Amino acid sequence: MTDGANRGPRQGDDQPVLTNRQGHPVYDNQNQRTVGARGPATLENYQFLEKISHFDRERIPERVVHARGTTTFGFFEAYGALGDEPVSRYTRAKLFQEKGKRTDVAVRFSTVIGGRDSSEAARDPRGFAVKFYTEDGNWDLVGNNLAVFFIRDAIKFPDVIHSLKPDPVTFRQEPNRIFDFMSQTPESMHMLINLFSPRGIPADYRHMQGFGVNTYKWANEAGETHLVKYHWMPRQGVRSMTAADAAAVQAHELGHATKDLHEAINRGEYPEWELLVQTMTDDEHPELDFDPLDDTKTWPEDRFPPRPVGRLVLDATVRNNFAENEQIAFGTGVLVDGLDFSDDKMLVGRTFSYSDTQRYRVGPNYLQLPVNQARNADIRTNQRDGQMTFYVDGEGESPHVNYEPSISGGLREARYPTTDEQGPVISGRLTRKRIPRTNDYQQAGERYLLMEQWERDDLVENFVTLLSECDRPIQERMVWHFLLVEDDLGVRVGTGLGINPGDVAHLEPLAGQELTEQDRERL
Ligand code: HEM
Repeated sequence: MTDGANRGPRQGDDQPVLTNRQGHPVYDNQNQRTVGARGPATLENYQFLEKISHFDRERIPERVVHARGTTTFGFFEAYGALGDEPVSRYTRAKLFQEKGKRTDVAVRFSTVIGGRDSSEAARDPRGFAVKFYTEDGNWDLVGNNLAVFFIRDAIKFPDVIHSLKPDPVTFRQEPNRIFDFMSQTPESMHMLINLFSPRGIPADYRHMQGFGVNTYKWANEAGETHLVKYHWMPRQGVRSMTAADAAAVQAHELGHATKDLHEAINRGEYPEWELLVQTMTDDEHPELDFDPLDDTKTWPEDRFPPRPVGRLVLDATVRNNFAENEQIAFGTGVLVDGLDFSDDKMLVGRTFSYSDTQRYRVGPNYLQLPVNQARNADIRTNQRDGQMTFYVDGEGESPHVNYEPSISGGLREARYPTTDEQGPVISGRLTRKRIPRTNDYQQAGERYLLMEQWERDDLVENFVTLLSECDRPIQERMVWHFLLVEDDLGVRVGTGLGINPGDVAHLEPLAGQELTEQDRERL
């Protein structure tokens, strides 16, 4: 400014002064620097260039899945026990051991398919991702609200997601593409029965369950392992919406679930979930009619009762959505001592995929961001440099030794807490095979029979509505699967589409598909 208009006292002088990122005061935030009031702009205008070029970079790629979500914070409080047994019998993980011990958490709830501004009332699985900031480093439990998944081998993940995402030409979510894929994927039936029932549209994030879905392991002091599955049960109860309820909600609000969660926390009504864990001895369990490493299956609760191990309370919202929700990064490989992977074929693929996408989406130093940092543990690595490095972890007394081993100082390896070998010995030929005991229909049928009548009616109506948009061979194959799930479901969906069970009885099983004895009797 040359006319002196911003000199002398002004209204708002008690507010802090605006600066640029170099710490220089901004004298004029309204006008570019130009040659005369109407003349050309000058290029040396650092403040303007910094402002506009930072704005040009304000977005990072949204998550390829789970783009729409919200993050809140709180704590996990351990019961010090697993049901009425000492938890130490199963795991040595420190966060569970002491009754009343609290661990800070960040929790991100999400939908899966829509973009980051899409409707939260969509029929879609919901993500339920929890980051525990433990003293042993971070533990992420990255789950969903439906307990199972569409597929059981990570190699199929891009395909299932492509089928559910918008058509690459019309950019519309097309039922024909979804059911084309699902009709060729019998293991998806259990998930579909859940997704197209009212459970497929939770009323909001506070009233839904969460599940780890994949099978993990716990390891105790002696190095003995158990297979485990995690369940989050909301103290608020479970509520869902029908398609009509959801349509009414999204007619006036796309972010109702985020709004509900934020408003509840701001009112001091902190939502709470109990964490329950199912355990199984770490072996193949030949007595079961499914594989315990198959994420399209749940474990029968009468034989493997979920037992409580702690509770989760959410009491704070993000201070900034971009910093703490857009940039938060979860992964299934993020485990602490006493928790382990299983050989679940989805889990290994997921574990690669999360940190891979985060190095691309957020950047190679995404773990230096406050929301991702293992803030309650000591972090000392020899990882250096890269885009956006803003501190050197573990620099300490030996700033010159950023390698290991060394006799000049620097970092050394930790000692194993017990032993590096735990769990059963595994041997086998390298191969590409489906797991045995696929049993794709039984649990889907049991789930259907457990539903109340109105839920079954809603499920049938949802299937008929969407399948009506599909090609005839896709409709016929889906009715064939539904007859194998449960006669009543197949007959009702078939009737809605004008297909008699007899019309599809001639269909052969899919290539490589294994039917159980019970399946064959149904056909
Ligand atoms: C997010 C991959 C299966 C739950 C993501 C992201 C990727 C991904 C790439 C985006 C992460 C990011 O940008 O930060 C995969 C692959 C899977 C798989 C390859 C199968 C092989 C599953 C399953 C579940 C699940 C079975 C549920 C148990 C989630 C959740 C998020 C997520 C909750 C969102 C995390 C957040 O809120 O930031 N997944 N996923 N995923 N996935 Fe998966």
